[in-house]
Amino acid sequence: MSRIFYVNGSFVDEQDAKISVLDRGFLFADAVYEVCSVLNGKLIDNRAHLARLHRSLGELSMAAPCSDEEIVSTQRRLLELNSINEGLLYLQVSRGVADRDFSFPANPSSSFVMFTQQKNLMDNPAAKNGIRVISLPDIRWKRRDIKTVGLLAPSMAKQQALDAGANDAWMVEDGFITEGTSNNAYIVRHDKVIQTRHLGQEILSGITRDAVLRFAREAGYKVVEEPFTVDQVKTASEAFFTSASAFVTPVVGIDGVEIGSGKVGRVAIQLRDVYLETALEREEL
Ligand code: PDD
Repeated sequence: MSRIFYVNGSFVDEQDAKISVLDRGFLFADAVYEVCSVLNGKLIDNRAHLARLHRSLGELSMAAPCSDEEIVSTQRRLLELNSINEGLLYLQVSRGVADRDFSFPANPSSSFVMFTQQKNLMDNPAAKNGIRVISLPDIRWKRRDIKTVGLLAPSMAKQQALDAGANDAWMVEDGFITEGTSNNAYIVRHDKVIQTRHLGQEILSGITRDAVLRFAREAGYKVVEEPFTVDQVKTASEAFFTSASAFVTPVVGIDGVEIGSGKVGRVAIQLRDVYLETALEREEL
């Protein structure tokens, strides 16, 4: 069955889901996006994702395409039209169509699209087996706190990781890991201290990160928001990453070196379970 997309006010088949060649999202990556998971047909932590969308738009002086009520009703309709019970919903807002010019158009009219992916997120082999990462230099721009569609550098890093026989890359800047290509990175020290980089312009403020750090503190873990090095990953008791699409997923190796026991970590599994139990209980974490 072909998917229904949302494009600028209309629900259309894939072959009709089209955006102009002059769209600034296409020409300049002048666009922001959000990804939300769908579990049991419910959008998980959507309010927080929409709040981050507004922040990204604000940082780029872009207006919201419509009210949050309209966004949410469009999201729900799209899930219904595509019968999505479990999967992902992507939404993307660009500054819209204007003749090619580096300066922003005087009266922009944003382009607004949404699409869904049906996926098994809960029952994911990566969660059972853990993943392996390689470290790579972080060559992205300096405003990674804005969730823009300028994703070429992380896309190249991901491909380089796959080509090297790993699953993802953890990116390094000034000797410290920033984050994964599309996720936030963590280590566990002595089975009880969870360490992840502090927020700032160097990383995206993950919605999953926020929830998982809250759950970790509630479960009695000490949370340290400080950068860490590749060597610290190699000597950690375990490591994991978080994102809306992968929740909490264990990382069992970096640069060919096993982390901890080399098996999925207890803390990562516990936090994944808490995350999923909570998400299945209530939509907003
Ligand atoms: N990526 N860091 C980066 C660079 C990301 O792209 C993402 C999300 C995260 C985690 O954020 P959150 O917990 O809000 O998903 C961190 C999404 C899943 C993506 O681009 O597919």
